[in-house]
Amino acid sequence: MPDLQSPDLPSPDQEGPPHRRVRSFALRRGHVTPAQRRAYETLFPRVAIAFEDRILDLEQAFGRRAPCVLEIGFGMGETTAAIAAARPDIDFIAIEVFVAGIGALARRIEEMELSNVRVIQHDATEVVRRMLAPATLAGVHVFFPDPWPKKRHHKRRLIAQPFAGELAERINRGGYLHCATDWQPYAEQMVEVLSAEPRLENLHPGFAPAPVNPLAERPVTRFHARGKSLGHGTWDLIFRRAGA
Ligand SMILES: C[S@@+](CC[C@H](N)C(=O)[O-])C[C@H]1O[C@@H](n2cnc3c(N)ncnc32)[C@H](O)[C@@H]1O
Repeated sequence: MPDLQSPDLPSPDQEGPPHRRVRSFALRRGHVTPAQRRAYETLFPRVAIAFEDRILDLEQAFGRRAPCVLEIGFGMGETTAAIAAARPDIDFIAIEVFVAGIGALARRIEEMELSNVRVIQHDATEVVRRMLAPATLAGVHVFFPDPWPKKRHHKRRLIAQPFAGELAERINRGGYLHCATDWQPYAEQMVEVLSAEPRLENLHPGFAPAPVNPLAERPVTRFHARGKSLGHGTWDLIFRRAGA
């Protein structure tokens, strides 16, 4: 079965010209284990928020008023679950498109009895644009986004304009954006794009000493470990929403 089967994702027809979408994720088929499939079917609905074309009421979604952190592209969700467990005072919205990863995170949420994580299966750029009001996020995590190394694919990189500006607009004054990558040219693009964004200021000259995060240490993610095994470096960046 395909590892990507969100009914919320735009159909190929919706992608055609003149509103052709550029996606930051690959439409790939991947292996889903029976346990991930079961968790996707039985546990994910308990923590799912459906994509809707209207602003999300965060207080209603979590049943309390607390600072909210957004994670885009959580992969298998190991970092999401670890940080959410370390910070029960913070609410987390975690976005991913792939069934295997969503199943894996749903299982961690159940096993670790986390009540502060909600999961959205949809293109995060659409979620940010349509569901999140300006100045509502205490933080944003983008850990090891797809690097799209080929020049013709650079337009698919997530940390680029106009999305970087849209993301910055959703962060509270004093809130932060933490990105990490193992791909140096993308790291350099991130510094350039985020430094040019007037709503953000870099907390460190250039890159942050890894793996510092304003909430909790950033655990090594699956893609971080993969980058290390390939001999890649790691670059963390932490920007704050200006005007605190
Ligand atoms: C290279 S993986 C990194 C996963 C994880 N953060 C890690 O470090 O192991 C990037 C992930 O981001 C997800 N992703 C990319 N663009 C996305 C988007 N627009 N909306 C939701 N997820 C996205 C992909 O599906 C993929 O699982």
